[in-house]
Amino acid sequence: MSKVSVFDHPMIAHKLTLMRCKETGAKDFRNLLSEISMLMAYEITRDLPTELVEIETPICKTTGRKVLGKKLAIVPILRAGLGMVDGFLSIVPVAKVGHIGLYRDPETHLPVEYYFKMPPDISERTVILLDPMLATGGSASAAIDCLKARGCREILLMNLVAAPEGIEVVSKKHPDVDIYVAAVDERLNEQAYIVPGLGDAGDRLFGTK
Ligand code: PRP
Ligand code: URA
Repeated sequence: MSKVSVFDHPMIAHKLTLMRCKETGAKDFRNLLSEISMLMAYEITRDLPTELVEIETPICKTTGRKVLGKKLAIVPILRAGLGMVDGFLSIVPVAKVGHIGLYRDPETHLPVEYYFKMPPDISERTVILLDPMLATGGSASAAIDCLKARGCREILLMNLVAAPEGIEVVSKKHPDVDIYVAAVDERLNEQAYIVPGLGDAGDRLFGTK
């Protein structure tokens, strides 16, 4: 089964509470999502391997630590995953960025793919899939299927809010994919929205409703 890590941090919890409020407008919603993504990127990269390097400060020679040349790629699921890209890149500016376009059919709630563009060496990279919402788990599972079909072997999933149902689906279909979230909510409602959740992340991010 997938390892599930919940980033239980006061600043993440505080910012997420602001995002959940229905009065929070698109500008603040975007900024908060970007800030939380930066904090989550900081946590998710905690175990990256480092190497000792010789450097010279203005004072003397010394050794320092540098992140080993592990190749990372982040892959936002369009649209809402786009809101997590800048925050992540502010911590790991050298990560390459792929894009997967998926939307949920409003009737069936099943994901429909409409876009896929990856860095050419994606199969050699550790891929961090970004999407604020893990609801039924259909979109994340479909995105992971697409990445695995292109040869990706090391994939992590980073969500803001997850429903227990979505976590179960992804970890059953893709037990090799670890999941990192800011919060696990109660359940899904009849429309497959997360409860309490924060509503439709894409619409709130881009002001489309
Ligand atoms: C949202 C969200 C996820 C998906 C999660 O996207 O950003 O991609 O729903 O739901 P699931 O786990 O049940 O698949 P949406 O389909 O609303 O598309 P959008 O970002 O383009 O609005
Ligand atoms: N997609 C969203 O944007 N929000 C939900 O609660 C579920 C799916």
